[in-house]
Amino acid sequence: MSKLCIQGDTRLVGDVKISGAKNAAVAILPATILVEGITIIENLPNINDVAILNEAIISMGAVTKFLDLHTLEIDATTIYKYSATEPCISKMRASYYLLGALLGRFKKAEVAMPGGCDFGGRPIDQHIKGFRALGANIEIEDNIIKINADRLIGTRIYLDMVSVGATINIMLAAVLAEGTTTIENAAKEPHIVDVANFLNKMGAKIIGAGTDVIRIKGVSKLHGGHYNIVPDQIEAGTFMLIAAATKGDICVRNIIPEHMDSLTSKLREIGVTLIEGDDYIRVIWKQKLTATQIITLPYPGFPTDLQPQMLVSLLQAQGVSTIVESIFDNRFQYVDELRKMGANITIDGTKASIEGVDTLYGANLVATDLRAGAAMIIAGLVAKGTTTIDNVRYIDRGYEDIEKKLTALGAQIFRID
Ligand code: EPU
Repeated sequence: MSKLCIQGDTRLVGDVKISGAKNAAVAILPATILVEGITIIENLPNINDVAILNEAIISMGAVTKFLDLHTLEIDATTIYKYSATEPCISKMRASYYLLGALLGRFKKAEVAMPGGCDFGGRPIDQHIKGFRALGANIEIEDNIIKINADRLIGTRIYLDMVSVGATINIMLAAVLAEGTTTIENAAKEPHIVDVANFLNKMGAKIIGAGTDVIRIKGVSKLHGGHYNIVPDQIEAGTFMLIAAATKGDICVRNIIPEHMDSLTSKLREIGVTLIEGDDYIRVIWKQKLTATQIITLPYPGFPTDLQPQMLVSLLQAQGVSTIVESIFDNRFQYVDELRKMGANITIDGTKASIEGVDTLYGANLVATDLRAGAAMIIAGLVAKGTTTIDNVRYIDRGYEDIEKKLTALGAQIFRID
C-alpha cells in the first residue's frame, strides 16, 4: 500500500499540462466495443481506471496496443464475449458503460454491479429504465446485471434526474438501434459531448449532445478512426484550486477554458486573479480569499467533483463559507480527516459551513475517495509540517503523475511504498 508524504506550507508556482479527461476516457474505451474496425484513441490519461478497462476489453477478445503512453489502438472486431464479471470490474463505477456498449453490439450483456467512490446510494435505475425502454430484458442475479434483447428500437426516454452515466449509457445502447432515440433531461457535461463526438466520428448520428435533449438516429454499423480525448476539466480545476489555496501562481495549460466557467467565476468572486488564453488559465493569488456560498449542480453548474478541493481552498478564506452538495447524499465523509489538521467545518446534512483558519497542521490522513484524496493533497500543501495520505490508490484512479506534476510546481511530495 502506498502513501503520499507532503512537506507543506509551500507556494506552488509554474506551468502544468492537463491530461485527457478521465470521465470521457472511461466511457470512450467501452464505446470502442461498438466499432467493428480499428480505433486509435489519443490523449488517453495514464490512470488506473483506463488500465482496468483496457484489460476488460482485451479479456472479451479485443486486440489493443499502446502506440505511446497516451495513444491506444483498439481492434474490437474480434470481441466474442459479452460478459465482464471479474472482481476489478465491480470496483469501478464506469464499468456500467460496458452494459450499454455490449447491449448495443451483441444485444446481450452480463456485467458485475458497478462500485466506485462511496457517496451514499448510487442507483442505476435510470440506466435500466433506458435499456428497458429500448426493448431489453434485465435481471440482476448474484450481483451480476444480465441484459438481453431481441431487437433494440429507438424511443423517447425522459430521465427522472440529470445523470451523466445514464445519458452516456443510453447513447451507447442506442447508436446501433433501429429508429431514433430521444433522451430528454440529458446531462450536458463536456464528457457527454466528447463521447457523442467520438461516436459521430465513427459513423453514429447523434445530435444535441451538450443540450438537455439528445437525438440518436440508429445506424447499422460504426467504422474505425482516430479520436483525441478532451482535456480533464476536474484535473484542471484541481490545479487551479491548488494555486488559490497555496497563494501560488500556476498556469494550467492544455485546457478548454469555457469548461471551467463555474469555477473561474467563483475564484474571481473570492479574490483570485485569473488570466485566460485560448487553451490556458493562469491563476494568481494576490490577496486573502473571501468567503462565499456554493451549491454543486450538474454542468454548467459548479461540479460536485471539485467540491472537496474547493472546500479546502475556502479554509484559507476570511469568514464563513457554505457549500451545499446537491448531487450526492453523502459526499462530506472526508471532512473528519481535515478536522485532524485543525479545520473548522460543520456539516448539517448536505450543507457544509467552512470557517477560515489561520493555520492548518500536518496530520496522518486516509483518502476516502478520489476527489477527497485530491483535496487532502491541497490541505497537505497548505499545512505547516508533514502530512501523510494513505489509500493513494484512490488518487491514482483519476490523476496522472500527480507527484511529478506537483514537484515541478515546487511541491515537496513523495511516495512511500
Ligand atoms: N442517479 C440515480 N439513478 C441513476 C443514475 C443516477 O438516482 O440511475 C443519481 C445519483 O445517485 C446521483 C445523481 O443521480 O445522485 C447524479 O449521478 P450521475 O449518474 O450523474 O453520476 P455517475 O454517472 O454515477 C459520474 C462521474 C462522477 C461524477 C458524477 C456527477 C463517471 C465515471 N463518474 O458519476 O465522477 O461525480 O457523474 O458529475 O463519469 C469522479 O470523477 O470523481 C466521479 C465521482
